[in-house]
Amino acid sequence: MDSVQLRLLREDDLQSAERASAVTFLEANRRSRRVSEPEIEPRSASVSKQWIDRIRFFLAVDPGGCWVAADGDDVIGFAISQNRGRVWFLATYGVLPGHQGMGIGKRLMDAVLAHSAGRQGMFISSVHPGATRRYRLAGFSLYPLMWMVGTVDRSTLPVVAGIREGQVSDLEWMDRLDQDLRGAGHGPDHGYMLDTPRLVVSRAKGRPGYVYIDDQGRGVLLAAARPETAQNLLWEALASSRGDTAVNSITTANEWAVDVGLAARLDIGQEGYLAVRGMKAPAPYLASGHFL
Ligand SMILES: CC(C)(COP(=O)(O)OP(=O)(O)OC[C@H]1O[C@@H](n2cnc3c(N)ncnc32)[C@H](O)[C@@H]1OP(=O)(O)O)[C@@H](O)C(=O)NCCC(=O)NCCS
Repeated sequence: MDSVQLRLLREDDLQSAERASAVTFLEANRRSRRVSEPEIEPRSASVSKQWIDRIRFFLAVDPGGCWVAADGDDVIGFAISQNRGRVWFLATYGVLPGHQGMGIGKRLMDAVLAHSAGRQGMFISSVHPGATRRYRLAGFSLYPLMWMVGTVDRSTLPVVAGIREGQVSDLEWMDRLDQDLRGAGHGPDHGYMLDTPRLVVSRAKGRPGYVYIDDQGRGVLLAAARPETAQNLLWEALASSRGDTAVNSITTANEWAVDVGLAARLDIGQEGYLAVRGMKAPAPYLASGHFL
């Protein structure tokens, strides 16, 4: 325990931190897997690369929020958080299985919360008992999350009007919308997420909204001023899905998303929590796991 040092993440830690993350979440996801769900496979090389790219980006934007626990050169724990205006978020957090339950997670959490300097905060929590215990003890409210899963019945897809592909010039009003919904814009995170295959926006009748859609046709971050706009954007995401899809991060404040999912003949599932402090769970809003 004494050989474990808590310090800021460095660029040359990224490989070791990624390996620690891959091992930690493989074990945690295998333990929480339900028998009806597919086997959890080790992280692919491309997902490992995406992890390193994303954490390198966080390190460049807000290095003071990126902490590791290290034993010599080996990263055994990590807590990657970021401040954006009035909002603090936790992007990822883990301690290697063999080192859990010994207080390392608490030390990491204390470090990133000190960086938050009392900001309001939000992030997506796993169901790991050590994680939920840490978060509630740190004063976060835990809102259970639903998700919609299955294959879209394409005969249910409506014609959606008033949307178009987004572009760089949309980011300014998207940040203002974020500000209204969650207290701060995504700022540089929008620049990063523009690499997502699609950004679809609505500006219909002064009712702004946007959704990022990944390469499997899943909406990964959706924000809108009105539930009807949010529903249109979600329908567009579902229309671009192929095979099994999922709509994640649905709090009860966002039942508009459940209603779309049911209409598309998806099933309701439940997993994890939205953890928030000093703010309400945003709506109409589906948070991104990485950028909140
Ligand atoms: C969440 C996590 C980072 C915490 O790290 P840690 O080093 O185990 O944390 P700590 O030992 O400081 O604290 C965990 C608390 O939960 C308890 N705890 C840890 N593992 C537990 C378990 N499997 N079951 C029940 N309680 C557990 C500990 O006793 C401790 O409580 P205490 O301080 O009141 O005694 C780590 O458990 C982990 O990596 N989990 C898997 C990945 C994950 O889910 N990450 C969170 C993503 S949102």
